[in-house]
Amino acid sequence: MWRKAAAVALLALAVGFFYHTDPELPERMLQYLSRSLPLPSPQADLNTPSLEEVIASAWQTLITAPARQWSRVAVGVNACVDVVVSGVGLLQALAIDPGEGRDHDVLTSKEDLKETFIHFMERGAAAERFFSDKEVFQRIARAAAEYPGAQLYVGGNAALIGQKLATYPQLVVLLCGPVGPKLHELLDDQIVVPPESLQEMDEYHLILEYKAGEKWGSTQAPQANRFIFSHDVSNGEMSALETFVASLEEFQPDLVVLSGLHMMEGMGRELWEDRLKEAVVAISDVRNEIPIHLELASMTDREYMSNIMQEQVIPIVNSIGLNEQELLFLTQVGSGPHSELVSWEGVPDVGRVSDILLWVLERHGRTDPESEADLTRIHFHTLAYHIIATVDGHWGNQASAVMAGARVASSQACGLQEVDVTKVTLKAPVQFHSSYQEPRESLTLNPSNPVTLWHRGNVTFHLSPVLVCRQPLRTVGLGDAISAEGLLYSELASQP
Ligand SMILES: *[C@@H]1O[C@H](CO)[C@@H](O)[C@H](O)[C@H]1NC(C)=O
Repeated sequence: MWRKAAAVALLALAVGFFYHTDPELPERMLQYLSRSLPLPSPQADLNTPSLEEVIASAWQTLITAPARQWSRVAVGVNACVDVVVSGVGLLQALAIDPGEGRDHDVLTSKEDLKETFIHFMERGAAAERFFSDKEVFQRIARAAAEYPGAQLYVGGNAALIGQKLATYPQLVVLLCGPVGPKLHELLDDQIVVPPESLQEMDEYHLILEYKAGEKWGSTQAPQANRFIFSHDVSNGEMSALETFVASLEEFQPDLVVLSGLHMMEGMGRELWEDRLKEAVVAISDVRNEIPIHLELASMTDREYMSNIMQEQVIPIVNSIGLNEQELLFLTQVGSGPHSELVSWEGVPDVGRVSDILLWVLERHGRTDPESEADLTRIHFHTLAYHIIATVDGHWGNQASAVMAGARVASSQACGLQEVDVTKVTLKAPVQFHSSYQEPRESLTLNPSNPVTLWHRGNVTFHLSPVLVCRQPLRTVGLGDAISAEGLLYSELASQP
């Protein structure tokens, strides 16, 4: 009983506090708190909008296009066709019999594929592997693409970002990457692919799905998951990078979006060491006045990440997009703030995230005008909220940009064009801090103006909550869509 009393007292305090800042808030705050505290529900009032409704409608009125919009965006360089198919169904169609599981780092044959698939299926764990035999892989890929019920999607971060940008009819989008006939057919008509990027064969990524409880021989999956494999040499070597940079001269973009660096990691140190140097040279060739956004994706090799972060790639781009895994990995590799964390637990703490973002910008970015670095913007996305951190004086319209990215995450995860407030839920904290350590600012989420802003040094932070889809349909490419949307609503400040 005393617990309930304490909770009620706390609630009274909280409501009292919010009442001073926004007299309309307590009702909604009550609804929010009643979901997270063990309290009897207050009488449901059908006329009071939910927090989700308030946030979604605030987005509709507050998100505005920047004064100066991009007109030509060049995107490169990873692209492929994702084939999603039943794992067991495909292996059966390939006349493979069930058996024992065994993990292989690299798949060299159908037998390796079977053993590795079973190894992960019986654990219900996700995994991704390289299939080294080109001929055998192509036969499997053909069988997968023709398997009844197989679904073919545009894949690869660059192609996915291009697809998102192409939903804006006023934009001309150039996509460079390995584009085969199938991918070309799947791409939006508005996307321009330079002839040098077209290749005879598609790069297929095979995504073998299995359901919770699904059986094959003596194997049973404890939960649904997917096993991914490919023989993707073009993307692994970023072979389209030079073509991409060369085509910029003629295309004259006002924004360049680059992704696919993470693909090289899997090719091994021998290859990436030299290739990364070449990549840095190529990226440096992009004219200085054209901003470059780099979308990071999952990496596991510390050495590789360390190379990307230190003087190599991050300092020579203007903007990066990343999620909580990549942010934590950055700080671990560079011994930055909170690098002792092994992983995030639950929703990443805003103060900690803010500390790491500031560190990245101060350490590898242009917070000091004397610095040689170009990095001035980070778009951070995690399930519950997003933050855009910018060095003051370089970017504009950040509030709309962070909200637009959050809105697209809230709709697209549910497979919808617009946010459906009955299908989403607020998971972002209502109260948080600008840092994990003192001195720090106490911050509050205001649902009717759902961007929280704070400053640290020469950096400004804009946070927007996400309305998290309760039953997500397809989350592949969600990060790419968030970053693309955030860029579309961003603009360069006229006088940096
Ligand atoms: C912030 O900018 C000022 C000049 O505008 C500069 O002197 C200072 O060193 C910068 N701070 C950091 C942390 O880079």
